[in-house]
Amino acid sequence: MIGVFDSGLGGLSVLAAIVEALPQADLVYLADTAHVPYGDKDDAFIQRRVLSIGQYLVNQGCTLIVVACNTATAAAVEMLRETLPSIAVIGVEPGVKPAVSASINSHIVVLTTASTARSDRLADLIRKHAQSIQVDILPCPGWASRVETLHLDDPDFADVARRHLAPTLAAGADQIVLGCTHYAFLAPVLESIVAGRAVLVDVAEAVARQCVRLAGVSASGQCRLTLMATARPERLQAALPVLGLTQLSLRMIRPAQLLTI
Ligand code: DGL
Repeated sequence: MIGVFDSGLGGLSVLAAIVEALPQADLVYLADTAHVPYGDKDDAFIQRRVLSIGQYLVNQGCTLIVVACNTATAAAVEMLRETLPSIAVIGVEPGVKPAVSASINSHIVVLTTASTARSDRLADLIRKHAQSIQVDILPCPGWASRVETLHLDDPDFADVARRHLAPTLAAGADQIVLGCTHYAFLAPVLESIVAGRAVLVDVAEAVARQCVRLAGVSASGQCRLTLMATARPERLQAALPVLGLTQLSLRMIRPAQLLTI
C-alpha cells in the first residue's frame, strides 16, 4: 500500500498522477486538515506532524510514503527517512531543474509557501541547478487556504495573482514553478494570467514516475483508495468532484475517515 499525505487538499494533485501511473495500487491519502496550512508554521511543528503521520501510515501497512507537500518535504523529509529507514519515502520539491532547462530568458520564478521560501532545502536546490540564471522566490500567503475553501476561480483571486506575478513577468521570467502542491488547483487561473509569456511547471507526473520506480509490491493491489483527514473528512471527500477528481471517488470503498493523531 502507498501512503500519500499533505496538509490538506494540495496533495490530491499528486495522488491523481500516482493513480494514473499505478492504477492497480492500493492507496491511502491523509490530509492533516486540523493543521492546514503548514506554510505559516515553524519547522519544529511541521516535523512533529510529519513524523506522526509517517509512523501512522507505516502502522497501516504502507511500504511507500509520498510526502505530497513541498513545505513538509523541505522541513522534514530527511528526518522522516532517518526515522523510517526500511520504508521508501518520496518527497516533492519545486521543479527548479526542469524550469531551468526550459527557460529561454534564463529567468524563472518559484511560487511557494513562506516556510518553503526560507528553507535551506530550496536554497540548496537553486544552488545545485540554477546557479547561472535568475531565480525569483515568491511566497504566496493565503493561496493554499484559498484552495482549501475551494475558492478557485474568484475574480478577486485573479486580480491578486495578476498583481503578485506582474513584476517578475515584466522582468522576463518565463517559467512559473508551482512550488506548493495546492497551487496545481489554481493552474487554470494562473495560466490565463501568464499565457503567451510564461509556462507553469508542476512536478506531479515526475513524482508519479518516481513512485513507479520504487513501488515494488505496492504497485499491485485492488485499486482501492482510503481517504483520511484529521478534521472534516466529509469536506475532503466532497472536494474531489469540485477539483475535477471524480475518478478518485470511484476508487473509495468507504467514506472518508476522521483520524485523531
Ligand atoms: N501543499 C503544501 C505544499 O506543497 C502545503 C501548503 C500549506 O499547507 O501551507 O507546500
